[in-house]
Amino acid sequence: MDMPKTFKEPVYVTRPALPTQDAVYAKIDEIWGSQWLTNIGQQHKAFESELKAHLRAPNLSLFCNGTMALQLACQAFRLSGEVITTPFTFAAASHVLYWNNLKPVFCDIDPHTFNIDTSRLESLITPYTTAILPVHVFGYPCDIDVIQSIADRYGVRVIYDAAHCFGVEVDGQPIGNFGDIAMFSFHATKIFHTVEGGALTYQDSVLKERLELSRNFGFKGEEQIVVPGINGKMNEIQAAIGLLMLDIIDDESAKRERLTRVYRERLQDIPGIDFRTDMPNVKHNYYNFVVTVDKQTFGFSRDELYTKLKKFNIFTRKYFYPLCSQLQCYRNLPSAAPDNLPVAESISRKVLSLPLFGGLQEDDIHRICDTLQYIQEF
Ligand SMILES: Cc1ncc(COP(=O)(O)O)c(C=O)c1O
Repeated sequence: MDMPKTFKEPVYVTRPALPTQDAVYAKIDEIWGSQWLTNIGQQHKAFESELKAHLRAPNLSLFCNGTMALQLACQAFRLSGEVITTPFTFAAASHVLYWNNLKPVFCDIDPHTFNIDTSRLESLITPYTTAILPVHVFGYPCDIDVIQSIADRYGVRVIYDAAHCFGVEVDGQPIGNFGDIAMFSFHATKIFHTVEGGALTYQDSVLKERLELSRNFGFKGEEQIVVPGINGKMNEIQAAIGLLMLDIIDDESAKRERLTRVYRERLQDIPGIDFRTDMPNVKHNYYNFVVTVDKQTFGFSRDELYTKLKKFNIFTRKYFYPLCSQLQCYRNLPSAAPDNLPVAESISRKVLSLPLFGGLQEDDIHRICDTLQYIQEF
């Protein structure tokens, strides 16, 4: 095969979907006219209500980012002691536990979904466990029923990190409606974003007041501060971008789905590259496209492939490597020992996120796949 052409411009792993500049300027005019920039103004109120309807959430609160939302979710339940979580994710979940004075207990992952392996969960529960913090990683849902039945049996909370899951549904149910509470991240790298931002969706309406007091320094009215809160508010510009994103998210997800299908069709012919397909009963959001690279069969390791692709101006990412359990701050925890986490250790060395965003064309995906094939053959 001929050497595929190198991309003229770098192709990054993701690019944000963006509303038109005209739509953004019109929103800025509105905000400037109102002279109200933050502290739960009209944009915030409108976004909260439209998002709640879009996600079919019984209750929803907005925050300045997903990490702060998760932080306040842990506070709201007054968690203590140990929380079981996954090592195969972004550092936010483990860091949030640290900031809440909670001890992360790492559970190994399932080799197919890359989510917490529920067959190992129960053995990690101790008298100090107060919650399970699973992540629906890359938008693939965890084993929700098993997690809930274990949580119910031991009387512990379930706080889902649904950062990657905007729009995902299981059996027709929105993903945010499982567990006690779920966190969505609206960081610019996510399929739905507000530049930075986040939300919590939850079953118990009583939580709303507690969460929203703590997101605004504990202010109740002008003169009373009733809890030691923090500044976790979403501002008006973030909320306005969120409103505009609601108009384009379905289109962005549909484009990513089409590109995903091209990847799947092409990559099935490349030995040593594996990828996940759709799960039955799940409505996926096609947030990103993740493969695993088997050195023996492919001929090169994940790290070699990552480096070789760069020469063609293709910038992949090793999500999630290193594991949270391998970070300096957590690797001395007993549950972080590599022997306890063989699947996570192995997957994190093989995994690679390929470029996927609505701004790519099908031809771009073909060229990326041609490049992979060329690297393998030559
Ligand atoms: C799985 C996961 N959880 C949490 C976060 C943190 O969210 P945020 O950046 O909105 O604070 C991220 C990344 O942004 C993530 O990928």
